[in-house]
Amino acid sequence: MQTVKLALAGFGTVGTGVARILEENEELLLKRSGIKYVITSVLVRDTEKQRDYIPGPETKFTTNPEDLTADPEVDVVVELMGGITLAKEIVVKAIKSGKHVVTANKHLLAVHGIELFKLAEEYGVGLYYEASVAGGIPIVESIKESLCVNKIKNIVGILNGTANYILSEMTTNGLEFDTALSQAQELGYAEADPTFDIEGIDAAHKLVVLIRLAYGEDYPLEELPVEGISKITGLDIKLAREFGYRIKLIGQVRDVCGKLEAGIFPALVKYTLLLARVGGNYNAIRVEGNAVGPAFFHGQGAGALPTGSAVVADIMTLTKMDKPNNTGFYSSDLKKADILPPEHATSEYYFRFTVADKAGVMAAISKILSEHNISIAQAVQKGDASGVNVPIVFLTHKARAKDVNDALKIIDDMPFIAQSTISLRIL
Ligand code: NAP
Ligand code: HSE
Repeated sequence: MQTVKLALAGFGTVGTGVARILEENEELLLKRSGIKYVITSVLVRDTEKQRDYIPGPETKFTTNPEDLTADPEVDVVVELMGGITLAKEIVVKAIKSGKHVVTANKHLLAVHGIELFKLAEEYGVGLYYEASVAGGIPIVESIKESLCVNKIKNIVGILNGTANYILSEMTTNGLEFDTALSQAQELGYAEADPTFDIEGIDAAHKLVVLIRLAYGEDYPLEELPVEGISKITGLDIKLAREFGYRIKLIGQVRDVCGKLEAGIFPALVKYTLLLARVGGNYNAIRVEGNAVGPAFFHGQGAGALPTGSAVVADIMTLTKMDKPNNTGFYSSDLKKADILPPEHATSEYYFRFTVADKAGVMAAISKILSEHNISIAQAVQKGDASGVNVPIVFLTHKARAKDVNDALKIIDDMPFIAQSTISLRIL
């Protein structure tokens, strides 16, 4: 029987999940791979910290990264600590020492992935990252292996469990934003810095990884349009519901005549679509290929065991295979994508204007929209005859992002506008 030695950099939510799976499913892993997996070392910040779960006596806890990367006995370094500074140093050292690396760190891959993949190719080692996108959903290997013969037309998905949990709790249980966020943190879904979840940054990291897998091209993170959910209020959730929509944080990329249009944004999703029904910390991704057509993936996008499941699968795949397939493309030297300027993107829109309830307001707004080629599909005023500010909601036909931005800039300067207009795309 072969033994593979693992070093874990990080033993928090995901690290603990990995260790639990290795212990609880040891017999199954042995049957499937013929390999016994042993965690020899674990890097943490604080070795004295009380932990809910401790692996067997063969595991040494350390605060020195060299105990992982310089140990010739270690076969695979598993990076589960987060951040991009020390994590990068550890990954680089592990690769240069000829060790395979498995990581759940989408931030690291989004920022330094291109360089790390080239390095891994140079040293002939694996750099696997199934857990980095959508936790337990096997989307990375699916695009890289199972759908590899397809030209990908588009990918649209819910890529952040924390944001989806918050929006679901606000929609279904009427929870306040902050209460729902605290619950997501307690459940271990949120990033160390939860603004990454709320402001769409974590989803952006994942979308950059997905774009590379689907198109073999690099969409630089700093060029990706990113908008989070912090501006979403209970009122928008309620109004959207009345029109038959749910609000979801969406990640999307599509091929528009050879150019990539991509972004992270909150959007209204018709309640009949599968994406609208994705609740809690669940993630979902719809991939459309030119041969396979649409394929839909759904599962838990965060949490110890779902994420641990993806990490352990990578460990097993890498230690069973002869030649790793890190990027899904023959060369790991990925070039920059041809990007559609975000202002050229088109979409239907939901606008919520907050206005003084008086004559001529609706007509003035409609005029500006019409002057910017924005055609109204539905309009509703939620007036209460109190004479104070009221919401007016417009749903539009398809409009260009630039026209929308220009029109809203003019409208928001008008004297009857009481607060900035909320503008959301409709999927
Ligand atoms: P976490 O619970 O905060 O655990 C982080 C671990 O790394 C802790 O054990 C911590 O040590 C250790 N660590 C952090 N900085 C360190 C440093 N400078 N030196 C030594 N050790 C350090 O994080 P997590 O939720 O497991 O997430 C880990 C990674 O997985 C992140 O990249 C995250 O984005 C990704 N991920 C998480 C999930 C999820 O559901 N949580 C899902 C998918 C991907 P101490 O224990 O001593 O504090
Ligand atoms: N914070 C992330 C989320 C963890 O909520 O989706 C999984 O990547």
